Amino acid sequence: MTVLITGGAGYIGSHCCVTFLEAGLDVVVLDSLVNSREESLKRVAAITGKSVSFEQGDIRDRSRIEQILKAYGVTSVVHFAGLKAVGESVARPLDYYETNFVGTHALLRAMEACGVHKLIFSSSATVYGEPKFLPLTEEHPTGPVNPYGRSKLMVEEMLRDVAASDPKWRFAILRYFNPVGAHDSGLIGENPLGVPNNLMPFITQVADGRRERLSVFGNDYDTKDGSGVRDYIHVVDLAEGHLKAYESLHALKSDKNCLTVNLGTGTGYSVLEMVRAFERASNRTIPYEIAPRRAGDVAECYADTRQAESALGWQAQKDLAAMCHDTWTWVCKNPRGYEEEGSSS
Ligand code: NAD
Ligand code: WQD
Repeated sequence: MTVLITGGAGYIGSHCCVTFLEAGLDVVVLDSLVNSREESLKRVAAITGKSVSFEQGDIRDRSRIEQILKAYGVTSVVHFAGLKAVGESVARPLDYYETNFVGTHALLRAMEACGVHKLIFSSSATVYGEPKFLPLTEEHPTGPVNPYGRSKLMVEEMLRDVAASDPKWRFAILRYFNPVGAHDSGLIGENPLGVPNNLMPFITQVADGRRERLSVFGNDYDTKDGSGVRDYIHVVDLAEGHLKAYESLHALKSDKNCLTVNLGTGTGYSVLEMVRAFERASNRTIPYEIAPRRAGDVAECYADTRQAESALGWQAQKDLAAMCHDTWTWVCKNPRGYEEEGSSS
């Protein structure tokens, strides 16, 4: 059973490679390395003691994908490859629609041509837009507010249409909340290039002295302490959710061949709670200042996790302390991410 993991050199993909290899599956990764380093896959091999086949290439290249599907005898695909920066998607929407939507279309065409019909797709809680009620169930109306979110929703809709057209397709659409953390070995983790957009990588760079202070975007939301609340989920739990989705796709009944499932913990933490949790984990002080709200941010966002439990038999296991501890271990062992050869030792 060989699984193609697109975007497998990236943050979530590399953790998924570990989980799948440890479950005894064979893995081939297709990644253009536009936002990652091949070093992550060497670390995956070091953690698991198993080799990962790697093909550098682009998901928009249909014939290349067909060649990989045939050469490795691929039976299922986990599709992480894509662009994910919200601000960049506003500035470069065509790049986002091309990579995220057109790229997934090319992948599906290649799968169709090769008789591969099982796919797990990385979607995002961002497809919900402004919450009308909480926690967010999968039935909550969608309404993404930026091109990145719309590109994800367009893929979701394409997958639902394809699933409805032919029962041989089997899809799991996984809507991630806020992935954080790292493998507890400290060998793989998030490696943002440039100034981080997201909270956790920014906090880590303040903790290790690379940045002076965190800007807390707003303290006047209608939340427990006025700062924004999110559902942070450990990336290893997320990877485990993909394995459960993989197993579920093999057991799915043909009249229900497309699952849409939230992957979150169901618990929301505020920005200030995140700061305090990271201070405890790192034993460092995180200086911060209150800054204006960030455009497009919602006050609160957390998942209803019942569907993940009933459809996948999956529940997040790791708490906020583990998320912060494992992130800090990764950062301390790899102050320059994957840039320095052997920096993890
Ligand atoms: P990442 O950037 O670390 O990983 C994405 C990988 O895809 C990278 O290795 C990149 O090189 C590769 N890639 C990009 N364009 C490609 C192309 N055209 N062809 C082949 N490879 C390409 O990001 P991540 O955080 O690991 O996210 C993985 C997926 O999960 C993405 O689809 C993202 O939209 C989705 N997602 C992420 C988050 C998050 O907060 N990290 C939340 C929800 C959903
Ligand atoms: C979390 C909280 C900020 C940075 C984004 C994408 C979403 C998904 C996950 C891909 C918010 C606050 C942040 C900072 C801060 N990605 N914050 N200072 O916005 O929930 O979701 O990543 O699918 O699509 O939009 O995550 O980590 O950016 O922000 O105060 O320097 O931290 O305002 O309340 P977000 P985030």
